[in-house]
Amino acid sequence: SAVNGIQIAIDGPASAGKSTVAKLVAAKYGYVYLDTGAMYRAITWVALQQNVQLDDESAVMAVVDQTPINFAAGSPDQLVFAGDQDVTKAIRSEDVTNNVSTVAALPQVRAALTAQMQKIAAAGGIVMDGRDIGTTVLPHAQVKIFLVASVKERAQRRYLENQSKGIEVSLETLEDEIQARDYKDSHRETSPLVQAKDAQRLDTTSLSVKQVVEQISKTIDQYLNHQ
Ligand code: DC
Repeated sequence: SAVNGIQIAIDGPASAGKSTVAKLVAAKYGYVYLDTGAMYRAITWVALQQNVQLDDESAVMAVVDQTPINFAAGSPDQLVFAGDQDVTKAIRSEDVTNNVSTVAALPQVRAALTAQMQKIAAAGGIVMDGRDIGTTVLPHAQVKIFLVASVKERAQRRYLENQSKGIEVSLETLEDEIQARDYKDSHRETSPLVQAKDAQRLDTTSLSVKQVVEQISKTIDQYLNHQ
């Protein structure tokens, strides 16, 4: 991995800015970016399409087994495919967002998607964002970051993001949804959202994206210069 680059894990609660920052860090180091939440979202989308009951583990596992998830370069967003369907936009819908935690709580689904993530990361040179990358998916990642921000700030960010996409949801609703998702993600039995012991915690509430990227780059450079 000295040749191909290290593994960088960026975890944290919903809308803490993980994907924005992870994409920029990956571009800066010439690494691959993997949005692991998109994988849970893709499975949730297919399951909703097929009217699969989302807490029926074997039914959702059938979806996982039938649905290869692939990523392709795209601008501004990486393209996400479920089978041969482009689900890049569809997986950001409110319907998927509000149901994905149910799917992400299923242990067999987590095991299957975790194995896929580990395969992608094996070569190194990767930045992954998610909830359990530093704790479960890549416990040996050389750099682990845990991004947090206040619920208010995160709702505000999602609100602006939605506006730019023409999605209308009130700030209050967004706050409620973020809190509900935080709760579900932190309280599930399997691999809950929790900071890895060796992760660096970064509160982004009053930081710009640029500042966050600079902080993380410092940590990465420190590692790269001392290995
Ligand atoms: O990061 P996101 O909002 O796109 O993630 C969607 C959901 O997927 C999130 O509510 C929790 C789940 N998730 C997870 O459990 N583990 C991951 N590594 C990534 C996402």
